Amino acid sequence: MKNLLITGGAGFIGSNYVHHVLEAHPDYRAVVYDKLTYAGNLNNLADVSDHPAYRFVHGDITDRAGVERAIQEHDIDTIVNFAAETHVDRSILNPDAFIQTDVYGTYVLLEAARKFGLERYHQISTDEVYGHIPAGHSSLETDPVAPRSPYAASKTSGDLMVLAYRVTYNLPVTITRGSNNIGPYQYPEKVVPLFVTNALEGKRLPVYGDGRQMRDYQWVGDHCEAIDIVLHAGELGEIYNIGTGQEMENLRMVEILLDELGASRDLIQHVEDRPGHDRRYSLKIDKVRGLGWQPRHDPEAAIRKTVRWYVANEWWWQPIKSGEFREYYERMYGSRKVL
Ligand code: NAD
Ligand code: TYD
Repeated sequence: MKNLLITGGAGFIGSNYVHHVLEAHPDYRAVVYDKLTYAGNLNNLADVSDHPAYRFVHGDITDRAGVERAIQEHDIDTIVNFAAETHVDRSILNPDAFIQTDVYGTYVLLEAARKFGLERYHQISTDEVYGHIPAGHSSLETDPVAPRSPYAASKTSGDLMVLAYRVTYNLPVTITRGSNNIGPYQYPEKVVPLFVTNALEGKRLPVYGDGRQMRDYQWVGDHCEAIDIVLHAGELGEIYNIGTGQEMENLRMVEILLDELGASRDLIQHVEDRPGHDRRYSLKIDKVRGLGWQPRHDPEAAIRKTVRWYVANEWWWQPIKSGEFREYYERMYGSRKVL
């Protein structure tokens, strides 16, 4: 394993993973293959753009010829697939791109991995495939999938295709299912960067419904380390959950965030809930711990560190929030009922 095709590497987690690979494996090459949708951003990779082991290819994972060309030109032996449409709220407005990229795109990559006999295909997946998890239970990798949003259903379909390629073609695959990531370079449609930047702009923080939904907020760097460990030490055909193993209510996340900013809790505004909102995600992470990994940050430390990054890096998020984002925000929140 030496020449990685990191699909979706210009997005949030993918770009953090590229940084990790270039540091942890000086003898590897990191080739990013990315469509640069609204969520892809070359500013995320600006500090490695001259790195001799880094290359960027502008391409779509649903384009079979483009994927095959990139594999051949860069002598790729491993695909790590981060490329996806990723926002639940957008999937509710328009699921089409989710089916195209998260389902069909995964199939195109699997076919290419098979055709060129790659050493490994690794799929980045999510805890959302397990659906809403009632109190008292935490998801095991062997639990049945029960996705409830178009985003979660498209990611689940991708996972099932990956597992089918293992069984049918003996493709060397692995899957990781991460909980909510936070940290540098996350597009500010996701809750933590949205709320930090809104607060910095003096805007209200739109908390969906009662705000008592629970998520496991993990530091993106921890997630990237775990992905890399699974890539090197994980068993073929296996799934590994990755998170802190500790979930908290959104309202608690918001309080920590506002406290770290020194901002008033009056900024909280409860608004109409997301349709089909999963109340709770919770992961058991013993299996990935068994590979020698453990999270370096608990959710509170991850939230505080994330807040500080956005405070220090206005250059990164200001241009995003003044662009296409404004239209999106108006569409998503403009006519939302205030509770
Ligand atoms: P992101 O939206 O920040 O980035 C997605 C990247 O994929 C962007 O660079 C985009 O340009 C690229 N992309 C989209 N469609 C493409 C296509 N057709 N061809 C090539 N590139 C394309 O997403 P993220 O938050 O970094 O998530 C990365 C992966 O991790 C996704 O598969 C997501 O499902 C998974 N995941 C995310 C989280 C989270 O909390 N963000 C948690 C668990 C799993
Ligand atoms: P999000 O970052 O969209 O991730 P996901 O839905 O994939 O877990 O949302 C995280 C949580 O925050 C989720 O419970 C929904 C909630 N949320 C809000 O309360 N307000 C918002 O404006 C957003 C975007 C999310």
